[in-house]
Amino acid sequence: MKDKLQKLNDRIKEAKLGGGQKRIDAQHNKGKLTARERIHFLLDPDSFEEIGMFVTHRSHDFGMENQKFLGDGVVTGYGTIQGRLVYVFSQDFTVFGGSLSETYAEKIVKIMDLAMENGAPVIGLNDSGGARIQEGVVSLGGYADIFYRNTVASGYIPQISAVMGPCAGGAVYSPAITDFILMVEQTSFMFVTGPNVVKTVTNEDVSSEDLGGAMAHATKSGVTHLTAPNDLVAIEQIKQLLSFMPQNCNEKAPDIAYEMKEEYRPKLLDILPPNPNQPYDMKAVIAEVVDEGSFFEIHKDFAENIVVGFARLAGKSIGVVGNQPMSLAGVLDVNSSKKGARFVRFCDSFNIPLLVFEDVPGFLPGTDQEWNAIIANGAKLLYAFSEATVPRVTVITRKAYGGAYDVMNSKHIGADFNYAWPTAEIAVMGARGASEIIFRKEIKAAEDPVAKLVEKEAEYAEKFAHPYRAAARGFIDEVIRPDETRRKLIKAFSVLENKKVIRPKKKHGNIPL
Ligand code: HXC
Repeated sequence: MKDKLQKLNDRIKEAKLGGGQKRIDAQHNKGKLTARERIHFLLDPDSFEEIGMFVTHRSHDFGMENQKFLGDGVVTGYGTIQGRLVYVFSQDFTVFGGSLSETYAEKIVKIMDLAMENGAPVIGLNDSGGARIQEGVVSLGGYADIFYRNTVASGYIPQISAVMGPCAGGAVYSPAITDFILMVEQTSFMFVTGPNVVKTVTNEDVSSEDLGGAMAHATKSGVTHLTAPNDLVAIEQIKQLLSFMPQNCNEKAPDIAYEMKEEYRPKLLDILPPNPNQPYDMKAVIAEVVDEGSFFEIHKDFAENIVVGFARLAGKSIGVVGNQPMSLAGVLDVNSSKKGARFVRFCDSFNIPLLVFEDVPGFLPGTDQEWNAIIANGAKLLYAFSEATVPRVTVITRKAYGGAYDVMNSKHIGADFNYAWPTAEIAVMGARGASEIIFRKEIKAAEDPVAKLVEKEAEYAEKFAHPYRAAARGFIDEVIRPDETRRKLIKAFSVLENKKVIRPKKKHGNIPL
């Protein structure tokens, strides 16, 4: 027995060494952790159980039979994060550049199947040169086996992808199907074709970082939801993200114990500037309303005219969506609609109630927007809110104009409680624009057209730039004092806790993609 145990120990040691100490050192020199170190920091101490440690590839071409590494370039298994079960795979760049072989894909598929059967999240830590070039089509097949499972698991269990090294070619499509992508600055990149191919095809000179680095995807494409300066911060972000989510779509996210206090927030009385055309920071409103320090922003640097993120309200996990007057006056455009819609759909998939703060002057006009399909993209947000069956509450802080009023979780599309601050203006458009159209003739005929416009604008504002017409119709449930917003919301979400909506049976809807 002793010698058998010795042999086992030797194998474990060999597997843990991955591609060897030299390659581990090279990984560290690039500022990256190894696949095993990442798992170590991600999971609760001593909770990791590895699956498939001794798997090796089956390739015989190009002398591969003489180059085998135990585990074959990916560490897979399960463990816990804050005591909750998760399945994890961590790609090991020290073995053939973390490239994906047939057996490597089988290891990932195995834990994805286990995650789905047991209703627990999957976390993928990506650091790979893509398809293992020596294996050809079996590697491509392995990728497709993973993409298929990503899709089947979507909306059933949360899936999180951290990109902590290269991620190129078709390999990007597994993270892309998952719910959240995190990228590490400077050490990770994602692109379908790299700088060399780009140069050949389009004659553009671009670096990997500019083409598909963390900042490019955080600000330009919106492919990544979060960025981190290093692996350790990215790992902490994964833990935070998970804390807001349930294990699967049949559960609710765990609560944090909370005792009600007086819950008034007087700072909210002074948060809006006196001039309705002046911006203010919607994040300050959110921070004041939700549990202190609990707001965890998603997609922070992309489409900044809408703010999305998770937070806690009286200890319960909620998703927050807010127009941001600080950026483009909080207007809805192509990117903000896509960003909002994606977040709303995630929350709805996983029973996370939605809180909306509304201050929106409308949709952004222009050829750029129309030709980039603001119609189809704006419809995504409208569709996402309309189909959501989770508890949904809206607070209109200021502007709620035009179609954007309907889209931003209005009562008409299924919101449960809609509140307005006394500063709310709910109308087809702003007073000036409206007056210029409907009083055009009168203004033109006036002795002093400018004075007439001012007079008509005031008349229109008096009639429409307030929440009471909407409240009279019941489109607004209550006009509330800003300082009582938090108290109202805690109560509203608590009475909605058992909300159930029965929808007509169908295969699935057809969101305008
Ligand atoms: C086999 C690979 C590999 C791969 C890297 N290696 N990529 N082995 N298949 N795809 C090996 C290298 O030969 C090297 O081995 C070791 O990993 C480390 O690679 P380096 O190049 O030394 O590292 P670095 O300089 O950091 O560059 C990393 C890299 C580069 C940018 C990822 O290796 C690279 O460009 N690799 C090829 C990427 C690629 O074209 N993959 C296919 C994409 S198409 P030694 O023994 O020398 O240390 C694809 C299709 C998927 O993935 C489709 C799914 C539908």
